[in-house]
Amino acid sequence: MSETKQEIYARVSKEILSVLEDETDDIARMATISCLLHQAFDNRIWTGFYITDQHKDKELVVGPYQGTLGCLRIPFDKGVCGVAASTRETQVVDNVHDFPGHIACDSRSVSEIVVPVLRDDRVIAVLDIDSDLPAQFDDVDREALEELVDEIF
Ligand code: SME
Repeated sequence: MSETKQEIYARVSKEILSVLEDETDDIARMATISCLLHQAFDNRIWTGFYITDQHKDKELVVGPYQGTLGCLRIPFDKGVCGVAASTRETQVVDNVHDFPGHIACDSRSVSEIVVPVLRDDRVIAVLDIDSDLPAQFDDVDREALEELVDEIF
């Protein structure tokens, strides 16, 4: 029998935590998470991070990712990533074409989840995952990804 989504998250989260056990560098952490999460699931066209730019007010800049070409910069008031960064709440979007202000880095993108990464009460980044199929993300993804970023960052 094939693994359930919960089982995949349990397996890949354990692997990520083990690989990153002694690693304190955020770029190394983000690169490893992007790689292992992207490879663990089918039907995903983008898995990665947008990092809060320290030199610009309220703007995200692309970080480590896997998949097709990502946009370079996203202001906090634009796109699904911007909403996640400014509200500090995970965004689950079944169909990005229905999301006002969605930014289409890849026109094949249909569903998306964006999880804010917080440290010391600041949004340091967001974790963004895109699929070319509708409604690929739900509370299972939300809970697993929130727990993962919470444990690592
Ligand atoms: N769709 C995102 C932009 C990032 S790409 O999907 C990689 C958004 O609307 O914020």
